[in-house]
Amino acid sequence: ATERTLSIIKPDAVAKNAIGEIISRFEKAGLKVVAAKMLHLSEEQAGGFYAEHKERPFFKDLVGFMTSGPVVVQVLEGDDAIAKNRDLMGATNPKEAAPGTIRADFAETIDANAVHGSDSPASAEREVAYFFSADEICPR
Ligand code: CMP
Repeated sequence: ATERTLSIIKPDAVAKNAIGEIISRFEKAGLKVVAAKMLHLSEEQAGGFYAEHKERPFFKDLVGFMTSGPVVVQVLEGDDAIAKNRDLMGATNPKEAAPGTIRADFAETIDANAVHGSDSPASAEREVAYFFSADEICPR
């Protein structure tokens, strides 16, 4: 079924000048960018986005990393978009990411892991709405 998912190109990948290469992988896999913007997240924005991880030991480092530089947030649309994006990204820890995945090719550490993608339909809905209002999404 056609789905939408939230993708974030994280500060490490933006700093590497890899925005285009990463978006190109989404497009080549048949996902369409239906919304996009560049943001330098505040601590409040990053902490709110990752609220489910608030009690985890890595939360502070995660928020610190996600606010360390600009990110590109996008809504990707396509058939099975949530799972397709996760396949393209590879495992959260780049050391475990399969060859040819975005994280295998661009990520360095579990924090600086190049990209984020929604992990379920419920989180996709919440995460898309966290960054985009309905009139910022352009279905096509
Ligand atoms: P992301 O998909 O953006 O969701 C939460 C992020 O926390 C994750 O990618 C990692 O970058 C980061 N993180 C740091 N340590 C861990 C960990 N032990 N388990 C899961 N995520 C972690």
